[in-house]
Amino acid sequence: MSLVGSSVSSGLRVVTQSRSMECPSLTCMDGSPLARLGLGTWNSAPGEVYAAVRHAISSGYRHIDCAAVYGNEIEVGDALRDAMKAGEVRREELWVTSKLWNDMHEPDMVPVGLEQTLRDLKLDVLDLYLVHWPVPMRPKSAVTATSGRWYTLEDVPLETTWLAMLAQRERGLIRYAGVSNYSLPKVQAMAEIEAPTMNQVELHPHLQQTALLDGCARLSVAVTAYSPLGSPGTAEMFKRDDGVTLLENDEIRRIAEIHQVTPAQVLLAWALARGTLAIPKSTKSHRIDENLAALSVTLTQQDMDDIAKLEHHHRYLDGSLWCTKSSPHTLASLWDESPPSEV
Ligand code: A2P
Repeated sequence: MSLVGSSVSSGLRVVTQSRSMECPSLTCMDGSPLARLGLGTWNSAPGEVYAAVRHAISSGYRHIDCAAVYGNEIEVGDALRDAMKAGEVRREELWVTSKLWNDMHEPDMVPVGLEQTLRDLKLDVLDLYLVHWPVPMRPKSAVTATSGRWYTLEDVPLETTWLAMLAQRERGLIRYAGVSNYSLPKVQAMAEIEAPTMNQVELHPHLQQTALLDGCARLSVAVTAYSPLGSPGTAEMFKRDDGVTLLENDEIRRIAEIHQVTPAQVLLAWALARGTLAIPKSTKSHRIDENLAALSVTLTQQDMDDIAKLEHHHRYLDGSLWCTKSSPHTLASLWDESPPSEV
């Protein structure tokens, strides 16, 4: 399966799939690189994320994934500014992604959300701006409010938000526009206007989403895997017991032992071998390094076949936060798939 093929209608194409320590990257239409392994910053606490981003950049990361709702963009921006000031990296070598939050979907709010993110990150231009969820909410809605916060997709259609995102590119404030947590039908609907450059979705061996990947490939939409390690942090955060975590999965550990690498490196090598980008989050220096070193891990076809058997359509982030009683959304409408019992 090749996710990011030869077509460049979305603005990206593969230039190298090398498995050396040099990060395989995609090349944008203007020739600039997009490293396929980036640093995730969700759940990276203020007070920790500055050091994490500085360490990542000094170790060789060139792709940082952010979002307004993570609540830490000011500190990420401090780290980006200081790394550039210190001469560790030039702006044109960095790829910075951020995301439009749910309460900014109305067309006149899109520039408001973007401009705040640019101020916080202390950047003139974002490399990639994504619609974070296909879930429009009323301005200033608290993430955890239980009622009165929803717009329906008839109130604020995804297409309207998408047109406003594309308009930001015309203003020169973003280089590429994309989406996140979009099902294939939703990506296809956006592609009727213009194919998103990227769809960032949860992807790991327990949620392989092969049909979504194939569909995105057909539309030349690149795909980024979030929670590529099975999101061990969210289980802790939501006090949820997912049973055995992916990092402790026997099959992943067996393959890690054979290759003399860590389970995290197997999971990341698997994501990269499928043609996706991956953005593991860590604020620990040794793990930031460990994750980058996954670039030198090559799995065999047998490993890929064995990992394929771990699929059981399990979402660690199932979107149920957006499907409360008062919400117009259901899990079936959010993901455009049958309820879990019928999958
Ligand atoms: P920490 O920041 O303490 O390192 P995901 O990207 O799938 O959501 O996973 C992120 C979670 O996995 C975070 O809780 C992070 O914790 C942890 N993590 C990141 N890298 C590794 C690694 N190499 N080994 C084990 N856990 C990791």
